[in-house]
Amino acid sequence: MDKLSSELTLLSEQASSCTACRLAPTRKNVVFGDGNCLSDLMVIGEAPGREEDIQGLPFVGRSGKLLGRLLLEEMGITRKDYYIANIIKCRPPENRNPLPDEVAVCRQFIEGQISLIQPKAILTLGNFASQAVLESKEGITKLREHVFDKVIGNVSLKVVPTYHPSYVLRAGGMAMAEMRADIVRAKKLLGQ
Ligand code: URA
Repeated sequence: MDKLSSELTLLSEQASSCTACRLAPTRKNVVFGDGNCLSDLMVIGEAPGREEDIQGLPFVGRSGKLLGRLLLEEMGITRKDYYIANIIKCRPPENRNPLPDEVAVCRQFIEGQISLIQPKAILTLGNFASQAVLESKEGITKLREHVFDKVIGNVSLKVVPTYHPSYVLRAGGMAMAEMRADIVRAKKLLGQ
């Protein structure tokens, strides 16, 4: 195994045995991340839902299917072309919002993933992931349509905030068109 894969595996093993917050006893699986760790693009969501908790993989439920379709249609990429992970690695009960202390103890894992993968751009999905990555209190409607320069650990990168696909599933038409435009913004940034 190469150095990057073995360091990511080590970090995922640390996450798998983590008991640092109240989400540990109720999880079925720790959902660490999936996809191509050599990619210039990282996609970051909020926290695993029911299906992700069962399968141990991010974005495998309904919102993940929509996300995959939009990334394929707008960028021509599939999961083997990008890396995808969540801010929080364990499912919050009843899909409630993650609490600040849960975010704080879990932050080491997403920051570790970013430091190892060194993406050129991160597409953040929804309020929660966008605010956590950008360390901002602004809502997603203000954040999207902008590209942010950010340094995370040892990595200088661009952040492209967009809607969470579960919001787009509920809101439909206009929101979907706006999410497509955000994905195209990320595509242009990466020179694709
Ligand atoms: N929503 C998220 O934010 N992440 C997942 O993995 C699934 C749904």
